[in-house]
Amino acid sequence: MDLKEVRTTARERMKGFCKVCPVCDGRACAGEVPGMGGLGTASSFKDNVIALAERRLNMRLMHDAVDPDTSVELFGKTLGIPVFAAPIGGVSFNMGGEISEEEYVDGVLDGCRELGILGCTGDGVPPFISESGFAAITRLGGAGIPFIKPWEDKELFEKLDKAVATGADVVGMDIDAAGLITLKKMGRPVSPKPVAKLAEIIKRYPAKFIVKGVMTPDEARLARDAGAAGIVVSNHGGRVLDHTPGVARVLPGVAAAVKGEIAVIADGGVRTGTDVLKMLALGADAVMIGRPISVAVVGGLKEGVVAYLEQVRAQLTQAMVMTGTAKASGVDKGILFEG
Ligand SMILES: Cc1cc2nc3c(=O)[nH]c(=O)nc-3n(C[C@H](O)[C@H](O)[C@H](O)COP(=O)(O)O)c2cc1C
Repeated sequence: MDLKEVRTTARERMKGFCKVCPVCDGRACAGEVPGMGGLGTASSFKDNVIALAERRLNMRLMHDAVDPDTSVELFGKTLGIPVFAAPIGGVSFNMGGEISEEEYVDGVLDGCRELGILGCTGDGVPPFISESGFAAITRLGGAGIPFIKPWEDKELFEKLDKAVATGADVVGMDIDAAGLITLKKMGRPVSPKPVAKLAEIIKRYPAKFIVKGVMTPDEARLARDAGAAGIVVSNHGGRVLDHTPGVARVLPGVAAAVKGEIAVIADGGVRTGTDVLKMLALGADAVMIGRPISVAVVGGLKEGVVAYLEQVRAQLTQAMVMTGTAKASGVDKGILFEG
C-alpha cells in the first residue's frame, strides 16, 4: 500500500483532529487534548521532536556491517525491529471516530504481527476503549501488551484482571495518565501511586509489568525496586504536563540508572527508522511509536500500519549500515556526533 495514499485518506478521515502534517511535530495541533495534540503550549510534544532532531549521527563506511540485524530480545520475545506500537485509545474523541475502536486496535495489532513485533492497547473512558484492546489481544492468543491507567483500586484491579486474562504475559500501566485532563473532565479518578502501592500492584500479577511515564533516574530505580520488568521513558507524547524536556534529553540519564537490569523503552517524537537508531544510541532497548501509527491505521487499517512499519524498518536498516551498526541489540553511543 502506498503511504502517500494512506496519509491522504487519513487526512480526510481525521476531519481536522489530525492535520497529518509533513512532520508530526506538535505545532499544528498545540493544545488539542482531546485531539491528537500536546497539552497547553505543546512544548513537551514539540521538544520530543526537537530533541531527537538535534542529535546527529556519525557516518562511517569502513566496516563490514552490510546486513545488520534489526532484531532484539525483550521480555523473553524476539522482536523483528526494536519497535512497539504505543498504546493509543479514544478514536472517537481524539481522531474523529471515522473508524471504530475495534478496527483501530485490530489494524494496529495485526499490522505489528506482520513485522514480528507487538502492539500495545490503551485505556480510558468509555470502557469500550480497553475492552476493544482486550478482545483483540485475546483473539491473537495474548500477542499484545495492554496498558491500564492508574485508577483507584476497584477499577484498576478489575481491568488488570481482564488484561491478564487475555493471555498477555506482559502488561503495563501508564502512571503518567494521572495528569490526563480528559479523564478529569469526566470526573474519573486517576492518581500517582506511591512506590509501595506500585509494588503491591505488580506483585499481584504473574505477568511482566511495564511502568510507562518515567522521566527521571530516581523513578526508574523506584520502578525497578517495585518489581517492574521494564519502563517506558515517556511524557505521554506531551499530553499530561506542559514544559517537560523532550524524552531524548532525559533518556541517557534515565537509562543509565537501570540499563541491563530492566527493559528500557522510550517514546515521544519517533517518526523514522533513523529516530529509532538515535533512541537506541541514547540508551533505549526499544522504542514506541504513537501518532504516526495512528495516521497509518486510520488511513489504511492493517495495510497502512504494515506500509509504515516497513518504511521504518528500511530506514533503520539503512541508518545502521551507514553508521556501522551491526546489531540493534548493541548500539554504540559513539555513533552520535558530540560536537
Ligand atoms: C490520542 C492519543 C491517545 C493516547 N492514549 C494512550 C493510552 O490510552 N495509554 C497510554 O499509555 N498512552 C496513550 N497515549 C500516549 C502514547 O502511548 C505515546 O506515549 C505517545 O503518543 C508517544 O509519542 P508520539 O505520538 O510522539 O510517538 C496516547 C497518545 C495519543 C496521541
